[in-house]
Amino acid sequence: MDKHDLSKSDLETKLIHTGHSFDPVTHSLASPIYQTATFGFDTVEQMDEAWNELGYLYTREGNPSTIQLEKKLAALEGGEAAVTMGSGMGAVCSTVLTLLEKGEHILCSKGLFFHSDIFFRELIDKMDAEVSFADFKDMEDVKQNIKENTTIIFIETPENPKLGVVDIKEVAELAKENDCILIVDSTFAPPPIQYSLQHGADLVLHSLTKYINGHGDALGGAIIGRKDLIEKIKYPGMPCYTGAALSPFNAWLIMRGMATLTMRIQKHCENALAISKFLESHEYVEKVIYPALESDPSYELCQKQMNGLGGGIVSFWLKDGIKGMTVREADYKLCNNMNLLSIATSLGEAHTLIQVENSNMIRIAVGLEGAQDLIADIKQAFDKL
Ligand SMILES: Cc1ncc(COP(=O)(O)O)c(C=O)c1O
Repeated sequence: MDKHDLSKSDLETKLIHTGHSFDPVTHSLASPIYQTATFGFDTVEQMDEAWNELGYLYTREGNPSTIQLEKKLAALEGGEAAVTMGSGMGAVCSTVLTLLEKGEHILCSKGLFFHSDIFFRELIDKMDAEVSFADFKDMEDVKQNIKENTTIIFIETPENPKLGVVDIKEVAELAKENDCILIVDSTFAPPPIQYSLQHGADLVLHSLTKYINGHGDALGGAIIGRKDLIEKIKYPGMPCYTGAALSPFNAWLIMRGMATLTMRIQKHCENALAISKFLESHEYVEKVIYPALESDPSYELCQKQMNGLGGGIVSFWLKDGIKGMTVREADYKLCNNMNLLSIATSLGEAHTLIQVENSNMIRIAVGLEGAQDLIADIKQAFDKL
């Protein structure tokens, strides 16, 4: 049990202290990892009691390490409750399979992460439910796609990988008017960048694999927000039935990462802004997208909704014809020339990662190295083109 009332504490304090207590047996200050598949009882009666009171019986159904993480996640977003899953996609799948009923319609953003997009296009389409897609940066398109049977709106902001920023407040008002649940995938902008629930979302979703863990060594996912909806997802147990439960060790790693989230986020954002300005000034760059750049179409909304912080992803296109190369040839050469930046997918970890997208766009998932070192590496990669 928390010794202090943390409700009015700073986010940094909440992330360290929420759900934390000394281990009652050994007084270990660091939380133990309850790395067990099952739980043992002296008597069958005790086991029955644990079952009836939703105590711990088997880790796929619940574990003290994952429950501790869920308390921290609820505190992070200011939500009533949270439920964790084995990955971000586990969270997408468990949430939608729980909340979407037969014959209902879900309206999704056209700008979703491609695995979420495939999940909606291919899996939901196979169910007795309807799915359609709208550009959520164009509210007229959204309004036209709302139907009588629309019950859920699912958006992502900023969008992966093109960094479109959606006005959560505007969408939340429309969702309310139409009696829809609004789910926001905020993986690219966790607090202290964006507080989706405060802007009116019913549920906020995260791939914990990214900034929230922050060290690139564990997969995880979570959904946070209204208690009635979280309980529906948690009991009788979509993560349990889909098998998308989080491992206790990953829960422990993610909690360890969360203790430094606010400091890391500041550094990711400072580095990303510096890199985006460098790229914008480079003669070989056609276009840069980064929501905190004044030239970006999302700049105003970023100030309003993202505390002026653009996040850790910078996307850009090279010019066609650099030294006689096509854009794609130059993209590959530039990435191959990098020394400090690693060619890899994912984001939100200490290492800076770079990848070429299908649209010939290059995405940099900016890490925590020194900004000048990163810029020097990118500069030498351009010089060698
Ligand atoms: C916006 C977004 N949502 C969800 C996911 C899926 O998360 P995970 O890889 O943890 O399943 C990702 C992964 O990159 C993502 O970028």
